[in-house]
Amino acid sequence: MNLKNKDIISIYDFSKAELLHILKAAKSMEKDKRKLLDGEIMGSLFFEPSTRTRLSFTSAMEQLGGQILGFATPGVSSAKKGETVWDTIKMVERYSDVIVIRHNIEGAARLAAEASSVPVINAGDGANQHPTQTLLDLYTIKKVKGRLDNLNIGMVGDLKYGRTVHSLAVALSHFNPTFYFIAPDALKMPKKYLDELKEKKIKFYETSDLLKYSKKLDILYVTRIQKERFPDQLEYKKYEGSYKLNTDLLPHIKKDLKIMHPLPRVDEIDKSLDETEHAVYFEQAANGIPIRKALLALILGKIK
Ligand code: CP
Repeated sequence: MNLKNKDIISIYDFSKAELLHILKAAKSMEKDKRKLLDGEIMGSLFFEPSTRTRLSFTSAMEQLGGQILGFATPGVSSAKKGETVWDTIKMVERYSDVIVIRHNIEGAARLAAEASSVPVINAGDGANQHPTQTLLDLYTIKKVKGRLDNLNIGMVGDLKYGRTVHSLAVALSHFNPTFYFIAPDALKMPKKYLDELKEKKIKFYETSDLLKYSKKLDILYVTRIQKERFPDQLEYKKYEGSYKLNTDLLPHIKKDLKIMHPLPRVDEIDKSLDETEHAVYFEQAANGIPIRKALLALILGKIK
């Protein structure tokens, strides 16, 4: 399979075979110490804050022997002077071999890919998609459950604005899941995604009660209420702290339930759960390295 020069913009752009191919490449990257990207440069354009995505891309590139240029905040770029994303990309494509972009506007990564002659990776665009997060989420699920097929997947929190749950629901649809969407009414999974699941005949249930289906779950994917995406902060205040998981949850879950979270967390998972065998969120974040090494090496044509 050849993913050379492929843009990584949306999880919709990937077939099941491609997803599995990337997961396999990531597994091989766990042991591969070769400097496959010696002489390659990654443009790293973060118009929104990030810890994990930006730093794991940086670490992945450095581990592969490549170099990085860019910015961690648009305040130090000419975006501050009014330069458009299009013009920014027309410059950075001349300075780098691959571009990683995070932006608050939905569709910004797609626009960047249209402007760019070098491959573009979406590191999160508004409430839309976060495809590399999804790949590391799939990788984590496969590692901790031993399979991707036929799992009962709970997603809890802000399912309206949380881009990671949108991408993950789409990707997992290839693997015959049953979904349990747990959210306040105002923060439910958007209709667009539910309609797609219906069309694909994927079973799903909706509730605002975390305990209603908790005993059935194999994976519980927890998300933060996305304060920065609420148009009205008074509205945010209504849902702040909607779900706070702690050890009180333990009698209500299966012994082998794994709790995931894309992080950062605010108060939705208490630290008391961190040391339990259920918590895999730090391991999940660490899996960003092999996944991003694999993606960079694949789209720069250094592995197949
Ligand atoms: N999961 C994730 O995207 O984290 P950051 O916002 O810290 O990159």
